[in-house]
Amino acid sequence: MALCNFFLLLLIVSSLSLSVQGNRNFNKLKPSLKYSFSFPLTSHRLSHPDSPATLLPSLVSATRRKPNPNPGSLNKPSAYKSSFKYSVALIVSLPIGTPPQSQSMVLDTGSQLSWIQCHNKTVAKLPPASFDPSLSSTFSVLPCNHPLCKPRIPDFTLPTDCDQNRLCHYSYFYADGTLAEGNLVREKITFSRLQSTPPLILGCARDTGAAEGILGMNLGRLSFSSQAKISKFSYCVPLRRKLAKVPPVGTFYLGENPYSGGFRYVDLLTFDRSQSQQMPNFDAAAYTVVMEGIRIGGKRLNISRAVFRPDPSGAGQTMIDSGTEYTFLMEDAYVKVREEIVRLVGPSKVKQGYVYGGALDLCFNGDPVAMGRPIGDVVLEMEKGVEIVVEKEKVFTDVGSGVHCLSIGRSQLLGVESNIIGNVHQQNLWVEFDLVNRRVGFGRAECNMSA
Ligand SMILES: *[C@@H]1O[C@H](CO)[C@@H](O)[C@H](O)[C@H]1NC(C)=O
Ligand SMILES: *[C@@H]1O[C@H](CO)[C@@H](O)[C@H](O)[C@H]1NC(C)=O
Repeated sequence: MALCNFFLLLLIVSSLSLSVQGNRNFNKLKPSLKYSFSFPLTSHRLSHPDSPATLLPSLVSATRRKPNPNPGSLNKPSAYKSSFKYSVALIVSLPIGTPPQSQSMVLDTGSQLSWIQCHNKTVAKLPPASFDPSLSSTFSVLPCNHPLCKPRIPDFTLPTDCDQNRLCHYSYFYADGTLAEGNLVREKITFSRLQSTPPLILGCARDTGAAEGILGMNLGRLSFSSQAKISKFSYCVPLRRKLAKVPPVGTFYLGENPYSGGFRYVDLLTFDRSQSQQMPNFDAAAYTVVMEGIRIGGKRLNISRAVFRPDPSGAGQTMIDSGTEYTFLMEDAYVKVREEIVRLVGPSKVKQGYVYGGALDLCFNGDPVAMGRPIGDVVLEMEKGVEIVVEKEKVFTDVGSGVHCLSIGRSQLLGVESNIIGNVHQQNLWVEFDLVNRRVGFGRAECNMSA
């Protein structure tokens, strides 16, 4: 049923002007050709009874614990220690396999390898609607002798080994210590009877208790966008509404976005491989933009622009990440933001010594509407005059028990050396990742298509 609706939607919305027959043609898909597929996108808090810490592959902490054998490598995995990675996640359902099975996946512009939750007949309790490989004619496993299965290949950080069935096995730990594991496989993403990707390398997770997989969309060569040679993609995150009876539904586009005429673009900041290899703190696969400054209620904070740009070690890059909930700033910028917010709201309302989730350390007792009034909008200024406006209603986040925290946290507490613009500040905004022209576009929008 859900699948039927999906195809109906696809028929209505897609303005496909490209005929793709089989893999060969798709492989040769020229970025200049216009194609457009749209999918519903919802944002919801991931809460799994079996793995409460959410889907957090703590790869960064894993590599931190061990000295990095290749410190300049391109492959800083982008997962953080905090459970804010994927806490409120953007979810899309993609039709996977032949015939297609609809699979929910976390849309993550900050990670590389995609994976799906695979059905394991030996485990009685299954996550709902996990992928059943035995029903797909295009499913295949990656054998051990595949180059990707060698541990420590340069841009692939998943620890892999060869299992007793000579299959490429990977495993990693969630933030809460839960082991996630599975095999690397190849499978197609099927858009319609005639349109599908070539078989892409994906992780096929054994029952982890999680309902969603991950759609890795960063610039790394194994991401979904890279493997499928997607020219551009975009999304519109609907405004979260706590008491909504029907969850708000936004949109995810692969290919052309019919609304892009009104978008304003900033260039992606890129370094060549040899440069970025000298920058141990730089995530070369992230969508890095140039931020210029921050205004609060019309006042430009005195923050050096250098704080938003990678230094010679790569620390300080500013990235757009759909997989992180809140926005995080490097120390010198955070301190200025904090100071101004405290000054405007009033120091007496600060909940002293309180830190939410280990990363939001400016929290208040009080009515968020009253607190927002003296603050006004917070504006993240990008290059070329492009701005992300955080309306005063979104400046604070309700963490329960009458406590509201600034929705901007300290990168240091998260254990990262970058500025991250999270999905809470991408609500009611088109964000387009134009991979051919290496730029990111923004356009204000009303994203709730279900209204
Ligand atoms: C299914 O799960 C069991 C127990 O976790 C595991 O031993 C087995 O290898 C899994 N089978 C597949 C096909 O993943
Ligand atoms: C801005 O900050 C710099 C360095 O922190 C300081 O030297 C300068 O005086 C400040 N400017 C204003 C107008 O406060």
